[in-house]
Amino acid sequence: MIDQYGRSIEYLRISVTENCNLKCIYCNPDGKLLCDKGANYLSPVEIEKIVKAMAKIGIRKIRITGGEPLVRPDVCEIIERIAKVPGIEDISMTTNGINLDTMAEKLKAAGLNRLNISLDTLKADKFSYITGGGDITRTLRGIDKALELGLIPVKLNTVLIKDINDDEIDDLIALAKDKPIEVRFIELMPIGFYGEKNKDKIMYSDEVIEARPYLKFLKKTDKGAPATYYGIDGYLGKVGFISPMSHKFCGDCNRIRLTSDGKIRPCLGHNGEIDIRGFLDMPIEEFDEKIEEIIYSKPRGHNFEEGFSSSRKMSMIGG
Ligand code: GTP
Ligand code: 5AD
Repeated sequence: MIDQYGRSIEYLRISVTENCNLKCIYCNPDGKLLCDKGANYLSPVEIEKIVKAMAKIGIRKIRITGGEPLVRPDVCEIIERIAKVPGIEDISMTTNGINLDTMAEKLKAAGLNRLNISLDTLKADKFSYITGGGDITRTLRGIDKALELGLIPVKLNTVLIKDINDDEIDDLIALAKDKPIEVRFIELMPIGFYGEKNKDKIMYSDEVIEARPYLKFLKKTDKGAPATYYGIDGYLGKVGFISPMSHKFCGDCNRIRLTSDGKIRPCLGHNGEIDIRGFLDMPIEEFDEKIEEIIYSKPRGHNFEEGFSSSRKMSMIGG
């Protein structure tokens, strides 16, 4: 499916819950772990119907996000249903890894192919500070389990924040030495109060790269992916940089988002959303046409420079 700006849209990010079991300072600081029961979330059957319509017009990759997707009790059923949709080639998930150790086998059996795991520090006390009380040993166990089950490459997401974790860049890079791990450093985005108020805490990717001349630029293999990768001689894994603040990648964007409450959000950094719940009872052809029309209208890109204020916290969009 080609959108109005000529981009090929083939990647859908599905947020399955707004709940999270962590309260990261930059994402969900006042978050509570609410009960998903009773929330007005799309059901697995509704999600499947939307994915079927999207697969017909070229969606090939699905990423399950949250909140924290592993707090949704029926997350495996969602994956199972999506995995059976003709045309879907890759299902991945972005998680904080807290519940991964115990769930990874079931996720793999349901059809999950890969995992991206958030890890902003290697220090237990700092992890607890950043995440509002999280236990790093659980996330580290989750990472090991993903590697053990071959859910690879495991991509680690580190949001770099000046004076908080910029002293750990080299320790984090070292994780890629002997394992199929991609350590990715992300520029803090102005989505949510912390990012909006702390623009001086952004660590720009170029600064990190220039200080490490041993990083060897790798040509992009996946044009639509936000990360730019670097290799290091003798390392099995890679180092990635996601730089939405210094190097906009909207021109190559290949993705759209579905929120847990049934809105299509065609761009992360754009508040326009379309509620598709009301269309779910339409005859199939009309529904398919509606989906096509929505994707076609994806906006040109985000506008973080010009005082953008997101209508949703990051934990309600899923990154
Ligand atoms: P793959 O490339 O499929 O592995 O996934 P990903 O890196 O796009 O997904 P992930 O959920 O791990 O996101 C990593 C970071 O990239 C998060 O900070 C996301 O918010 C950010 N990101 C993902 N997609 C976009 C996008 O379209 N625009 C912007 N600005 N940031 C994005
Ligand atoms: N800026 C950049 N990345 C963010 N994430 C959450 N909030 C922000 C932000 N303001 C990251 C998380 C997770 C991914 C889904 O998005 O760390 O890895």
